[in-house]
Amino acid sequence: MLPVLALDPQPADVVLDLCASPGSKTTQICEHIGDLGAVVANEVVSGRVNTLVSNVQRHGSKSTLVVQHDGRHIPKVPGVGFDRVLVDVPCTGSGTTRKNPEVWRKWLPSSGRSLQDLQYNLVRRAIAVTKPGGRIVYSTCSLDPVENEGVIARILSSETVSIVDAGSLLEGVPSQKGMDHWEVLDDNGKPIEGTGSSQYGPPSDKLVSSELGKCLRVWNDSIGGGGFFLAVLKKDSDGSGGISGRELKIRTIDELPDPKSFPRPIGEDWSRILEKSWGSVPNSMWERGKSLIWSTEEMGEIWKSKRTRKSGRVEVSGGRWRPLKVIHLGLIAAKIRHGELDRLVSRGARRLLGEISSPFAEVDSSIIDSILMGEEPLPESVIGNLGEFRGGRVLFDGLGSCLPVWIGSRVTPMISDAEKTVMRSVRGLPIVFDEEE
Ligand SMILES: C[S@@+](CC[C@H](N)C(=O)[O-])C[C@H]1O[C@@H](n2cnc3c(N)ncnc32)[C@H](O)[C@@H]1O
Repeated sequence: MLPVLALDPQPADVVLDLCASPGSKTTQICEHIGDLGAVVANEVVSGRVNTLVSNVQRHGSKSTLVVQHDGRHIPKVPGVGFDRVLVDVPCTGSGTTRKNPEVWRKWLPSSGRSLQDLQYNLVRRAIAVTKPGGRIVYSTCSLDPVENEGVIARILSSETVSIVDAGSLLEGVPSQKGMDHWEVLDDNGKPIEGTGSSQYGPPSDKLVSSELGKCLRVWNDSIGGGGFFLAVLKKDSDGSGGISGRELKIRTIDELPDPKSFPRPIGEDWSRILEKSWGSVPNSMWERGKSLIWSTEEMGEIWKSKRTRKSGRVEVSGGRWRPLKVIHLGLIAAKIRHGELDRLVSRGARRLLGEISSPFAEVDSSIIDSILMGEEPLPESVIGNLGEFRGGRVLFDGLGSCLPVWIGSRVTPMISDAEKTVMRSVRGLPIVFDEEE
């Protein structure tokens, strides 16, 4: 999707996706940064946070942190700000009428006006939490200038940012320049007198008006798909997002520690256990409830970073997530049972292969196939020396598949039915449901 291409996230970047659910752009950002960097994905609506968590979990990236805040007031964590911020705001969706004709039936000219303040304030906060010199991409799936150029005109008039020519960043995309002139309409489609100079109309400032052509519009009929709008902003190098120039008296407070339900870096005890069981301890391991989580170094830096509150007047030491409200972190690598290391989780195991050595055992592909099809072979028939071993192991084959198993008197799989079904279909095995087996 083009907003992420315009954002251009790089490995090791710390990126915020301010309005993230269902998460298609979050996972695209993760693809760009790979296993380096951190993506903080925010969503305010509880039901939509759950969808976001399922989607980032399915994607299996270690670099994601899901948080839940009203984006207009998201805390500035890390304190130094983000390298890049995507602001894919709630909008009327008037560019999606091919996919969803119902949108057109319900759309009214006043709908965009009712969203503009929210959209404007989301971008303002995005700018405030971006590092000086960092990039912000504003995007909507609406074609209404009130939600698009109207928001950007307000931003250019009030914030310490410049606008980058989106067309030159996305060469070859069938698109048009942003509009510098439009009418504000009532719900009967008639122009409203005297709105030209209001926040909804085109800007009266000629300089701001001349910059709007750097926005990018894609009309749905020109691409036979969905229409959308985007603008690329660069925070000025000396911009501090609204507090620049003021003398601040900074008070340092030691805020409450995180609640027990938040992930925390593993301590020496877990490091010793992992060293013994896995042969080495991957960087950035976290503990949360019954799970051990694998994340990235940059995520650890966010946790450690100093942050501020009350527009910079209060400084809070790091070593916690607060005031971020954390819902999900990274990739679940292993399960804990009765305080002890229980087993690797299959998605985590695939990623840990190569990073750690110990619980892995290479076997012939046919053995993994047979276990997936319901057989429970004898340990010694799987691999000779497993016969002496009891406990959790991960079998892997030359195709790069990993299957967590329990070695007892028989070898049994330790994955859910859903994971089994996915593995069978990936390997071209018949999909047989348990009741039929
Ligand atoms: C256009 S959707 C985002 C789509 C997403 N970026 C993707 O590509 O999958 C906008 C999202 O913003 C959320 N939202 C609405 N108001 C918000 C707010 N004040 N703060 C943060 N998110 C908000 C909505 O619930 C919705 O999930």
